[in-house]
Formats: sequence, C-alpha cells, structure tokens
Amino acid sequence: MQRYSRITGWGMYVPERRLTNFDLEKMVDTSDKWIVERTGIRERRIIGPGETTRTMAVAASRRALEVAGIEPIDLDLIIAATSSPDHLLPTVATQIQADLGAVGVPAFALVAGCTGFMYGLVVAHQFIASGAYDRVLVIGAETISKAVNWEDRTTCVLFGDGAGAVVVEASQTPGGLMSFELGADGRDWDALMIPAGGVAHPPDMEMIEKKLYTIRMNGRAVFRFATRVMTEASRRVITQAGLTPDDIALLIPHQANLRIIEYAAKKLGFPMDRVMVNIDRYGNTSTASIPIALVEALEQGRIKPGDNVVMVGFGAGLTWGAVVWHWQPVETDTAAILVEDWPIPQRLQSSLRRVRTQAWNARVALSEKATLALIPLYTWTHRLKKKVPRPSLPPIVKKK
Ligand code: UT7
Repeated sequence: MQRYSRITGWGMYVPERRLTNFDLEKMVDTSDKWIVERTGIRERRIIGPGETTRTMAVAASRRALEVAGIEPIDLDLIIAATSSPDHLLPTVATQIQADLGAVGVPAFALVAGCTGFMYGLVVAHQFIASGAYDRVLVIGAETISKAVNWEDRTTCVLFGDGAGAVVVEASQTPGGLMSFELGADGRDWDALMIPAGGVAHPPDMEMIEKKLYTIRMNGRAVFRFATRVMTEASRRVITQAGLTPDDIALLIPHQANLRIIEYAAKKLGFPMDRVMVNIDRYGNTSTASIPIALVEALEQGRIKPGDNVVMVGFGAGLTWGAVVWHWQPVETDTAAILVEDWPIPQRLQSSLRRVRTQAWNARVALSEKATLALIPLYTWTHRLKKKVPRPSLPPIVKKK
C-alpha cells in the first residue's frame, strides 16, 4: 500500500531582540531606505544571552511536537538542517535530541545552505514512503548573526536568527508531498561561503585578523541564480504534480530578498496575495526561513485542508529545492496504519524499539539523578584523597 506524508505539527522560534535598519544605520554606512528598497527587510531578530542554534531548534521542535500531539520519544528520526551548528563536532542534532528527551532516536544534521529545510523535508518523505519510519522531525535552525561580519554592509543587513520545525507523519490519505525537485550547481560553490575555519583553512591568526570566519557573498551572482531557479524549479514541480499555477493556493519562497520573491511570483503568474512574505520582520534566516514562513502562514489561516502549497528555496552550494505539498485534513490516521495494516514483525519491531527507547531514557534520567546525588560525596572523598599534610614549620628561635 502506498504511504503518504502529512505535516501534523509545526512550530517556530525567533529571539526577542530586534535589530532594526535604524540600529544598523549607527553601525555601518547604510540607510533604512537602501535596505527596504533593495531587500524589503525592516528588522531581524538576533540571539540573546544563552541562546544558540540548539536552543532555538529545541523551542521550535517542542512546539511542533505539541501541535502534532506526540511525545519526543515517539519520533523515529530527527533531521536538523543548519549551516550554523553550535559545534563543528558533534552534530547539533544529537544535542537537540537529548534536550527534547528523545534519547535513542536517530538524529543527524543536514547542510545545504538556505535550502537545508527543503532537502530535509524530501529526505523525511523518502523514509516515510519507503515504510522505514512513521514520524520524522525536520528542523531548520540558524544563528547567522554569529557568522556575519558586522562591519560589512553588503551582508550584515541581510541576515537574522531563528528556527522552524515540522513533524512529518505517515498517512494513508493521498496527499502531502506531490512532487519535488532538489538541485545543486557546485561550480559556483564560492559565491556564498565562509572562507576559513574548516580543513581547507584551519583557524589561525590570519583568519581572525581578516575575519575569514564570516560570510563572503557575491550578491549579484546569487541574485541571478536565485531568480532563475526559484522560477524554473517551481514551474517544474507544479507541472510534475499535474497542476497549474492557478491550482496553487500559496507560494512559500525562501525569504532572502523581496525583489527575488516578487520577480519569481511575477514570472510564475502569482499575484502577491498568494505569496507568503515575512522578510520585513525577520530578514533572511537561511534554512529557517521556509519553516518559519510556513508556520506563520498556518497561524494566519492562509493554508486550509485541501490546499496545494509550493515551497521553494535556494542557497549556498549553490543549491535549490522545491516541493508541491497537498495539505490534508489535520486529523492523523497513522494509528490506523500501525494497528491494521502493518505486518506483525514490523509491529513487533516498532513496539520493541519504543520499549527500548523508554528504558534508555529512564536509565539516562536515573544515572543523571545518581550523579547529582553523588557529587557531594565525591567532592568530599576527593578532598580527603588530595589532603596533603601541612609542612611542619621551622621551630621558632627566640632572639636573645
Ligand atoms: O539565502 C541566500 C542568500 N543571499 C541572497 O539571496 C543574496 C542575493 N543578492 C541580493 O539580495 C542583492 O544582490 C543584495 C541585496 C545583496 C545587494 O543588492 P544589489 O541591488 O545587487 O546591490 P549591489 O551589490 O549591486 O550594490 C549596489 C550599491 C553598491 O554601491 P556602488 O558600487 O554602486 O557605489 C554597493 O556598495 O549599493 C551599495 N551597497 C549598499 N549601500 C547601502 C551595498 N550594500 C549596501 C548597504 N547600504 N547595506
């Protein structure tokens, strides 16, 4: 039996702190007028103390799980798309997994620049369609503010931080991902890059002095690429799905530049009231931009059951990705698949995995508690062991 994907949960997180164009006017040689006219951005969010890609991803994921009505432990896979992980090693996906309390659930990070979420969504669908997994969490999270040179006006005005997440579940009802296209053109890999900090140029003094750990971009080249792929990829996925632009209720494009969005919409024949735009409030949040726009579109009631939605993105690599997603009724029928249609060995395997994961989580929680309880004892014995006898002072010789 064919298995379909359904988005059953969605959530987003953006930091409290707003950085407006007027704030930027005080930092670099720019103006609110230039930024609004050339990009459509008015403000962006920047992480505060204690916030990272990991914490934002966890907040967005918790919300998505809540909407889906499932526990983290019920997930079969976590895909975290990001180009700004907390650490180079390990993957931020396992940190997110631990914070969610989903120990045991496979988790990996996916890097495809701003297209990461689109790649993640398609990968999630493959696992579901093949019958391997039933519930996949796909996250797009980014702290681009840490990779930006705040003295470079050509890039620093563009980006913002944030995270979005969706729960994708198996379904029997036709719908979900109807067509997709993923693409890459590595010939222009250096059009948008961070020159140093990796193996090709490990961290050194030159990297610090020249700020080679920040984003370098050939804005015009990326602009040309973006307008072409956004239009062509969207057109191809719509045709592949057997639809026309008139059948699409909403276009959710990557929020990189309002001019790119307007150009693509015009070429596709979409009036702007059928295009999701929130770049004015968040700037370009890279791979978080499409899930954030999707969440806001849902919260604003702009997507209804039965609607066809196109999501399309592009980014560093250079990469691109587009899907047509048919929005099914919210009610999930995954339970029906599990109970009635699964062969007995698979049902047993699924139950076993769940028990094993619960046992694992319980063990981790217990060992954490035990460690906490033992800390005072350990500190005390450690001190005892380390206790060195006081050196005896030389005898006091009284002066006569
Ligand atoms: O997620 C993917 C990420 N990247 C993108 O999507 C970026 C795609 N590219 C773009 O969005 C646009 O190319 C930019 C917004 C980056 C730049 O807009 P543009 O219309 O292509 O400007 P430009 O690079 O051609 O620069 C025009 C002028 C230049 O001055 P001169 O040489 O004409 O005197 C720039 O120095 O604007 C100047 N400029 C600025 N002026 C004020 C560049 N940045 C700024 C600024 N404020 N922030």
